[in-house]
Amino acid sequence: MYDKKYDERSIRSENSDFVEFMLPHLGKEKRVVDLGCGTCRKVAKIAPYVDSVDALDRNERMLAQAADSLAEKKIDNVRLFLGDNFNTPFVSNTYDVCSTALSTWSPAEARRLLKTGGTFFIETLCPDDKFEIKKAFGQDDLGERGYLFGQTCEERVYYLRTALEAFFEVEEWLFTERQTELTEEGFLGLLELTPTIRGFSLEKDGDIVKRLLVDGKVRFTEKRMMIRATASRFKPS
Ligand SMILES: C[S@@+](CC[C@H](N)C(=O)[O-])C[C@H]1O[C@@H](n2cnc3c(N)ncnc32)[C@H](O)[C@@H]1O
Repeated sequence: MYDKKYDERSIRSENSDFVEFMLPHLGKEKRVVDLGCGTCRKVAKIAPYVDSVDALDRNERMLAQAADSLAEKKIDNVRLFLGDNFNTPFVSNTYDVCSTALSTWSPAEARRLLKTGGTFFIETLCPDDKFEIKKAFGQDDLGERGYLFGQTCEERVYYLRTALEAFFEVEEWLFTERQTELTEEGFLGLLELTPTIRGFSLEKDGDIVKRLLVDGKVRFTEKRMMIRATASRFKPS
């Protein structure tokens, strides 16, 4: 699903406040693990402010692109690993910070990797992220075709918070909103390379694409959540 084009500016806006959200809590002594690092766009921005980053992704092509980009930027304190966020190869209680941006994650695995008192940073989508696009594509046999659009914002917050609270004290929960526009090429890239619209095909959905494009651009609202949580004391049963 993700490929080299994924990182192109045409389909990826630079609209992330996640790095700024994390920065005040980083420091030169901190060891960081990033889950679902992709091409390391965000990891490259935090690496200069920390001791080291271990960055994991399950997609080899993303990791290859990450390696090129880190080398080009002369960043040498990031190690890349191929693996699954839910079952990582790392030793327990190793990291001061665990970060995960727009990926999948397990609160239990993040807690296992962190030292007690360590910080977990999450960037995740609100169900109504890109709602203008999701509304336009409507439903299929399973319901809303838009990613996460079959749940309310309140539900998503409730389930995330409840899952986190088993292992963390939630300290900060920020909602961000930005207006974004993409060219036709960028928009098609988004639809073809990301899960935004289930079962997208230009052949079937061409009319909807045309309707959304105004003066060659599609405009929509990006809605995200940023969460900061502290790893609770380990309580063996
Ligand atoms: C939308 S990209 C985000 C990349 C990067 N974190 C960023 O914000 O720019 C999601 C990444 O998470 C990875 N990913 C998703 N689920 C994963 C899992 N269970 N284990 C490892 N990587 C995963 C994908 O391969 C992809 O590279």
